[in-house]
Amino acid sequence: MNSSHSYYTRTAQVLHWLMAIIFIAAWAIGFFSGNFLSYEADGSFKGDVITLHKNVATPIIFLLVIRLFWRYTHPAPQLPDSMSPLMKTLAHLGHLGLYFMLIAIPITGCLFSWSVGKPVPVLYLFEIPALVDKNPELLAIVKPVHTYLSWFAGVMVVGHVLAALKHHFIDKDDVLRSMTQQGKSSN
Ligand code: HEM
Repeated sequence: MNSSHSYYTRTAQVLHWLMAIIFIAAWAIGFFSGNFLSYEADGSFKGDVITLHKNVATPIIFLLVIRLFWRYTHPAPQLPDSMSPLMKTLAHLGHLGLYFMLIAIPITGCLFSWSVGKPVPVLYLFEIPALVDKNPELLAIVKPVHTYLSWFAGVMVVGHVLAALKHHFIDKDDVLRSMTQQGKSSN
């Protein structure tokens, strides 16, 4: 298996864009509920919005397992030679940070829900069995962690998008295309 090809596999591309859409939707719904709705003023509507937030976000957990397996078995294309070793290292660290967020945010979200005694539903189809009981001490930790991680991840996603656009429009290399187009052999 070599990584000198210039495109991600079609599977990697679909996983990337699907998770990007889910992540941004979950972020926006969580942000809306957390900052514009209150139980006092909005009653059960806030509950419905949080339920939507969870149902939209939880597929990320399952998709991430597939994605990490795929990433491990299908190395990413090399970054362009025009990038300095420092920029390549920063890019790799940024990607590692985004993977960390894809793990840490759903985990803290699930712990957040279970620690207030609420379920963790997936696509309105089934619930992930609770791994912890109602727990105010745990809530005091995971609630702010979920919120701060989400904010920080939002900043990272904006940086990620800006970097991709810079590659495409300023550096005029194939980095963005590697996530949208296909070479000869891929799956
Ligand atoms: C990648 C996935 C996720 C993202 C990007 C995300 C993002 C967010 C954001 C931005 C907020 C609002 C924070 C604020 O108050 O400013 C939030 C709140 C919340 N999230 Fe998530 N979240 C994700 C996954 C989950 C999961 C899987 C659960 C639970 C199953 C969950 C449960 C909650 C709850 C209960 C709130 C509080 C909402 C409120 O107080 O109105 N989140 N999330």
